[in-house]
Amino acid sequence: MVHGPGNPGPERVAELVEGDGPAVPIGFEELRAAAMDAMDETAKAYVPGGAGSEDTVDRNRTAFDRWRIVPRMLRGVADRDLTVELFGRSHPPVALAPIGAQDAIHEEGELATARGAREAGVPMCLSTVSGAPMEAVAEELGSTPKWFQLYWSSEPEVTASLLDRAADAGFDAVVLTVDTPTLGWRERVLSAGATPFDDAHGLGTYFSDPAFRSLLDVPPEEDPDAAAERFHEVFGDPSLTWADIEAVCAEVDLPVVVKGVLHPEDAREAVDRGAAGVSVSTHGGRQVDGSLAAVEALPAVADAVGSEATVLLDSGIRRGGDVFRALALGADAVMVGRPYAYGLAAGGAAGVRSACANLLANLDLVAGLCGRRSVAEIGRDAVVHETRLGPGGSWPTGE
Ligand SMILES: Cc1cc2nc3c(=O)[nH]c(=O)nc-3n(C[C@H](O)[C@H](O)[C@H](O)COP(=O)(O)O)c2cc1C
Repeated sequence: MVHGPGNPGPERVAELVEGDGPAVPIGFEELRAAAMDAMDETAKAYVPGGAGSEDTVDRNRTAFDRWRIVPRMLRGVADRDLTVELFGRSHPPVALAPIGAQDAIHEEGELATARGAREAGVPMCLSTVSGAPMEAVAEELGSTPKWFQLYWSSEPEVTASLLDRAADAGFDAVVLTVDTPTLGWRERVLSAGATPFDDAHGLGTYFSDPAFRSLLDVPPEEDPDAAAERFHEVFGDPSLTWADIEAVCAEVDLPVVVKGVLHPEDAREAVDRGAAGVSVSTHGGRQVDGSLAAVEALPAVADAVGSEATVLLDSGIRRGGDVFRALALGADAVMVGRPYAYGLAAGGAAGVRSACANLLANLDLVAGLCGRRSVAEIGRDAVVHETRLGPGGSWPTGE
């Protein structure tokens, strides 16, 4: 049996059984409950919250369940390696999705997440709205793969400065989020009457940015409220179009991933305009209540992009079986959001490490139990949609 980063399942299970037990609860639902106990009222609304009725948050989950996994036997699965290569770096097929204002979730915020990600060997995508400056997070990550998520500022100098800093700090890719020209209608947050940003959380990268600071009459250290107000004015740009994507892809020296596409034509457009990848995402159900689930959009997007660019998926991944299904349906890797955010809330860096290690071990075991030794072996024949099962269904003859 090979024990290594690509095959951590049995190792992690042994660690849990023979060690001190889990740092945070293993099951997602118990982890969420522990996190809810640990967070203050603002974070309790911010992290789990979705748009409107949260129908898309739920659908992101239930849509996974409708794809059933088809295990195959006796394929010699002693040696497994689920390593993938993205943007020139090798790592597991799971990365941490950008989550803003982590200093509102845990006092050590993004620095704790970076430590947990480094210890688990999992790439981290850092949000624009990070509590700690991006350089500090990059340093904590060390040689761990790192991506910088960009919310395009309405002030071009700020956008340019953020991109320059990301390249200087050693980030491997830019993840440009396009599904948030403005924040969605998030009822929990509106009911709570406060966002983390009102308490100046999530502003470490902005407040340390020279281009942003030059927009202020006095530095953020002297008047944080005025600086936060200015941040709100310049943080997004709803006038963006595909032409801007083309410009950024041409100008930036790093691969650009367009995050938040659901329609295959948008995915195709992103690639045609120069993107190195797309991330199929509903922003964790936080933007358009009633939209299709990310995993429902995935097969058509994967077909539209083919092997020309990297396809990521996030939204609704909770366990190893979900990662497996996304890989089967055409994702090259996935990003997870709330599972590690809850790990952070409940256990700081150890909680993030634990949430990541559990997900990877779970994925490795599912792959082995299904007769797959590598990501390349996890193809569409590894899943079947439930509409093809049962009376009148075409499985397996309709393969
Ligand atoms: C609390 C919270 C904050 C988020 N902040 C950002 C952000 O700053 N930038 C971004 O592109 N996406 C952000 N997202 C979306 C995530 O990157 C990701 O798309 C989503 O969490 C994936 O869904 P999941 O939570 O079901 O795994 C945020 C999500 C959550 C839950």
